[in-house]
Formats: sequence, structure tokens, C-alpha cells
Amino acid sequence: MFLAEQVILDLPWKDREFYGNFLAQTYYFVCHSTRLLARSMSHFQTDREGLYRRFLSHMSEEDNHEKIALSDLKKLGFSLADFPESSYTRAFWQSQYYLADTSKGTALLGYILFLEAVAVETYPKLIEHLYKFHGKKCCQFLKVHVEEDPDHVLHAIEEIQNLPEADKKEVWKNFEQTAKIYCEILKDASENKELSVPHSFMETNLAVENNQQNTIN
Ligand SMILES: [Fe+2]
Repeated sequence: MFLAEQVILDLPWKDREFYGNFLAQTYYFVCHSTRLLARSMSHFQTDREGLYRRFLSHMSEEDNHEKIALSDLKKLGFSLADFPESSYTRAFWQSQYYLADTSKGTALLGYILFLEAVAVETYPKLIEHLYKFHGKKCCQFLKVHVEEDPDHVLHAIEEIQNLPEADKKEVWKNFEQTAKIYCEILKDASENKELSVPHSFMETNLAVENNQQNTIN
């Protein structure tokens, strides 16, 4: 079975709050898709023309997709303020900027491949249920991605196979990292317990600790 698939299928998709949180977290990281592609593309020299062209067309396909997730969220009756961006979501996209630079652009293929594979392999198993639970009008983000050409996944794999061994290794490492963090984002959204410690609480506790330290010294 496809890595991460069972974790995704086991989530409480019927739960309106969970589905809303899923859409919000999706919005937060999809905002970075075209920016990450641009960052990676800037590293490709003319010897990486094939990858450059692929990322360029992917960029136009991804354009404005975050707005579809946001529109689904609003139609579901929520706003972004109802679901703050989780630490897992931030870790998900932030690490990709680092990898885009250290891998000279190629590592992003692992991130792209995972998200495309989930779209064409896993979400088709859920989509009809989601239409029933929340109405088709609230499922446009997944609908667009489920209907994506499955050949995209094969092309991404071909691109990876053509890379030098060292790059290939980095891509697959990023694929695994992407899969694991993606599952954590969704599991966290289902538990709905983002750890939110007010700054004032932290500051008070640090002040108490410092005082105790001073007394001991
Ligand atoms: Fe997309």
C-alpha cells in the first residue's frame, strides 16, 4: 500500500471541524507551492532544461490553487481565523525552502511527487464520501487534484530516475520526509489540539525560573 495512505484513510473525514482544519492547513502550505517552484527553478542551469520546463508548467497549473482551498473552507462555514496554522504545517513548507537551496532545486521533486501521488492514488478513494458528508461545493480543492492527469506521477518518477545518484537519494529522502510531516499535519488537525502557549505565560515562568536561579547563586 502507498506510503501514508492508511493514515490518511483512517482520519475522521465526516467531522466538519476536521475537514475545515484540513482545508485551512492545506491553504497555508499550498500558498507556498508556486514560490517553492520559483525558488527551485532559479537554481536550474541550462543543463537542467527538462526539469526547468517541467517546473515552469507545474507553476502555471498550481497558480491560485490555495484560493480553491480557502473558498471550500468558507463554503463550509469557517474562516482561517478558526484554524491557525499548525507548527507541523510551518515545518512542512519552511523546510522546503532550505532543501530547494541546498539541493540546487532538485529535492523539491520529492515534495511534488508525494503530493501528486496522494492526489491521484489516495484522495480518489475518499472523494465520493466527502461529497456526501460536506457537499460537492465544499470539495473543489480535492476534486481538482483527484482529476489531475495520473501521468504526472509517472513523469515525475521518470525525471527522478534520470538524475545523478546523489540527487536521486536526496529526492527520495525528501519524499519520505514530506510523507511523514504531511501525516502529522493531518493527525494533528484531527486531534485539534494545537499547543498554544501564551507569550505572557512563558515570560512569567522564565522570570520565576530566573529569580530562583539568582536566589540559589
Ligand atoms: Fe494544486
